[in-house]
Amino acid sequence: MAGQRLDKFLANAGCGTRSEVKQLLKKGLVTVNGAPAGKPEQKIDPEKDEVFCRGLPVSLEQYRYFMLYKPAGYLSATEDRRQPVVLDLLQEKRKKELFPVGRLDIDTEGLLLLTNDGGLAHDLLSPKKHVDKTYFAKIRGQVTEEDCGKFAEGLEIGEKKRTMPARLVIRRVYEEEPGSLEEAKGRERIGQADIFTDVEVTICEGKFHQVKRMFEAVGKKVVYLKRLSMGTLRLDQHLEPGEYRSLTEAELAGLRETLN
Ligand code: URA
Repeated sequence: MAGQRLDKFLANAGCGTRSEVKQLLKKGLVTVNGAPAGKPEQKIDPEKDEVFCRGLPVSLEQYRYFMLYKPAGYLSATEDRRQPVVLDLLQEKRKKELFPVGRLDIDTEGLLLLTNDGGLAHDLLSPKKHVDKTYFAKIRGQVTEEDCGKFAEGLEIGEKKRTMPARLVIRRVYEEEPGSLEEAKGRERIGQADIFTDVEVTICEGKFHQVKRMFEAVGKKVVYLKRLSMGTLRLDQHLEPGEYRSLTEAELAGLRETLN
C-alpha cells in the first residue's frame, strides 16, 4: 500500500525522534482512525487518515518551520518597542506563535530558523547537543594558521570555561582601501590599504557574541558576520536578505537526525 510510514510521519510532526516514536507506538499511545496503531512501518495517508498521539490529533500543520535570511538591522526577537524584529519580516497567519531559534546579533546576517516547535528549538540550542553553526566572517587584519590552531584548542573569552574547539578556515587574504577619508584619518592611515581576511568558522556552542569575542581574543575584529548553516540546515542560496521559505521535509528530517 502506498503512503507514508507512521513513525516518519509522527517524527516529522514533532512527536519525537524515530526511537521515541517507536516507544509511543509500543506503549499504545498512538491511534489511526480510532484503532490502536500497529508497527512503526505501518503506512498511513497523511491527507486522509486521522492520527492521534496521547489523545491529541497529530498533523503536519501543527508545527511550522521557516528558514529566514536575516538581514542586518533586525533584532532576533518576537517584539521590541524600538527596533524592528525578525518576525516583522514574515507574512504568515498565526505569526505570534513563531519565534527565532537562538539569536543572531542585530548586525549579523544569515540563516535563522523560526518555528513554533519548542521541543526542537530547545534541542537545537541545548549545550549538550553541540550543534555546529558555521559562519562566514570578514576580519580586519591577517588571520594566520596560528589563529586556526588557537581556535582549534579553544579560547579564553572571559567565561568560566574556555570555548569548545572551533574550526577556522582561511578563505582569502586581501587589501582594501579605507571606506572613507574620515575612516582613514581616524586611524591615521591615509594612503595605506587595510588587510582583511575572509574566513569560515564553525562553533558548536552559542555564547553571547561568541564569534566576535573569539576573534577579539586573538587581537582581531569581525567587520561582517553571516551564518551559513546550523546542523545540516544550510541557508538557501536563492534567498535574498529579508526573504524566507518553509523547510522541506528532508531538511527537517536532517535537523532531527543531527539531534539523535
Ligand atoms: N557570534 C557572534 O559574535 N554574533 C552572532 O550573531 C553569532 C555568533
